[in-house]
Amino acid sequence: LKKIGVLVSGGGSNFQRLIDEIHKVYGEIVVVVSNNADAHGLTRGKTAGIPAVFLDPKKSTGSEDYNQKLLELLNSYGVELVVLAGYMKLITPNLIDAFPNAMVNIHPALIPSFCGEGFYGMHVHNAVIDYGVKVTGATVHFVTEVADGGPIIAQEAVKVADDDTPESIQIKVLAVEHQLLPAVIKAICLDEFEVHGRIVKKRLK
Ligand code: GAR
Repeated sequence: LKKIGVLVSGGGSNFQRLIDEIHKVYGEIVVVVSNNADAHGLTRGKTAGIPAVFLDPKKSTGSEDYNQKLLELLNSYGVELVVLAGYMKLITPNLIDAFPNAMVNIHPALIPSFCGEGFYGMHVHNAVIDYGVKVTGATVHFVTEVADGGPIIAQEAVKVADDDTPESIQIKVLAVEHQLLPAVIKAICLDEFEVHGRIVKKRLK
């Protein structure tokens, strides 16, 4: 089984879906790491018997140093695939370069809309409602040095209704994420994708 490391900053509902659908079936989640001591995701890991580590940003001299410590931690568990499941901290090249096409992020909008610096979590859904778009959604993509700019693996749309609020859209998008992320991670574990530059396709069988 592919060894998976998951990074979380908050509730970890996407991580829970990976525990339920992927863990010990298609891959093994060997560690969950958070930059936030109070992240409920850490509790979800412990409950599932997965090593859960709080890596304190205050004990690092800066982003690069933090990401270096993160890299060493992931390597110590033999991680082969990194999943950012609601991870809100900057990833720097020293970590990204160690996992080429092996680090996946889920973003709560249809990239390349509402993404990049400043667009995370609830900020995204606020911006979607303020802009008045009629469609939003979720994107799963490989992580490169361009924030939210790596090759897109899968997307799913969500319609924005006239009476939607940022909160109601968040709920609708999360429901889509909960299907999309496990499906993508399963396919990666089964080696079903090929990547050509920024184009990701399912392999012909
Ligand atoms: C999810 O909506 C995810 O797409 C988003 O944070 C939420 C985490 O929920 N991620 C980002 O905004 C990353 N830029 P969860 O902790 O319940 O999985």
